[in-house]
Amino acid sequence: MYYGSYLHLDKILDSQYPVSYEAPNEPAHDEMLFIVIHQAYELWFKQILFEMDYITGVFGQETINDNSEDLNLVRHRLRRITKILELLNQQVHILDTMTPLDFLEFRNLLTPSSGFQSKQFRLIEARLGLSLESRHQKDYYKRTNEGGFTKPDYEHITNTESSNTILQLVNNWLERMPFFDSAYWESEQNIAYGDAAQHPFWSQYRTIYAAGLTEREQNKIHDFDYIFLEAVLESHSPEQLAMLRSNFSPSALRAALFIMLYRDFPVFQTSYQILDSLIEIDHLMSNWRHNHLIMVRRMIGMRVGTGNTSGAGYLEGALNKHYVYRDISGLSTFLIERKRLPKLPEALIRHLGFHQ
Ligand code: HEM
Repeated sequence: MYYGSYLHLDKILDSQYPVSYEAPNEPAHDEMLFIVIHQAYELWFKQILFEMDYITGVFGQETINDNSEDLNLVRHRLRRITKILELLNQQVHILDTMTPLDFLEFRNLLTPSSGFQSKQFRLIEARLGLSLESRHQKDYYKRTNEGGFTKPDYEHITNTESSNTILQLVNNWLERMPFFDSAYWESEQNIAYGDAAQHPFWSQYRTIYAAGLTEREQNKIHDFDYIFLEAVLESHSPEQLAMLRSNFSPSALRAALFIMLYRDFPVFQTSYQILDSLIEIDHLMSNWRHNHLIMVRRMIGMRVGTGNTSGAGYLEGALNKHYVYRDISGLSTFLIERKRLPKLPEALIRHLGFHQ
């Protein structure tokens, strides 16, 4: 083994070709930084996708033992993704050492290519669960002409969107949680709680939650009913319903809220941290979009992007719209104080192994 050959540095270090250094262009010193920074991003994107392969593999199994090594590794690797994203957020600032005038020296040579076309960035978004339909200015993504994707890249991205995303797999995993099985709640009567509103836990929780709302928050109980108990009130306007509609199913959201409520029990720690990392990933992606937007505004003002979008306007829209796990972070709206948490039935505690 030799350092350089193991890392294939001959290929990596021979992959920077500033176009401004090609005749008849004028060499632009900062183009090298521009290339290196994009390549560094793409290498880290590759690592993120590699970690996602593992995560998808585990969640793709029919059943996962919640106390297994697998789930712990998912937690660990999601956290690694958050650490990489933290680094990527820092990295944007290196570009701040390039002035807008430095950039203008080679900017026109880049048209119509743009970070917009980063296939790996789109695959990360798609695998997290961002679909074409929920994207800002979705027509931009369908372009396979100037500024859009090549046909193979476009197909790769759309196929990835329509296969199992982390969002769907996490939704299915949450739906499988056995917390509310009738056996743990009314074993002697063995009632099947098909209707969540009839379940003893949720009817008790709903009462406690409603009692804790202030006068101005009274309408939150209707949101609660819609999100967790699938009850639609006539007072909900179509716009309100669209706002409340979730990427997750009501039963998955019930399980997620339950995990958040009882997170202090050791048995819920891994599941809780998995949900928390997904929220954190969403948050860090949005921070990146914000940092990139500020940098872009400074660099090109309100000019259109080299990738033929409206530029800063498009980026701002994407920043506001491209959250995937907003529904999970939004669960905080429905928490109650720890001291008011309903006591869990013995049978459930035994099943979850709290006594161990
Ligand atoms: C001088 C520096 C940069 C400028 C002026 C710039 C500008 C832009 C603009 C205007 C867009 C919107 C699409 C378009 O019309 O082109 C865009 C999108 C994008 N850029 Fe940059 N960019 C810069 C650096 C970077 C770097 C270093 C990365 C790292 C990979 C990057 C990644 C992206 C990505 C992923 C998008 C799509 C964002 C989304 O859809 O949410 N950009 N960029």
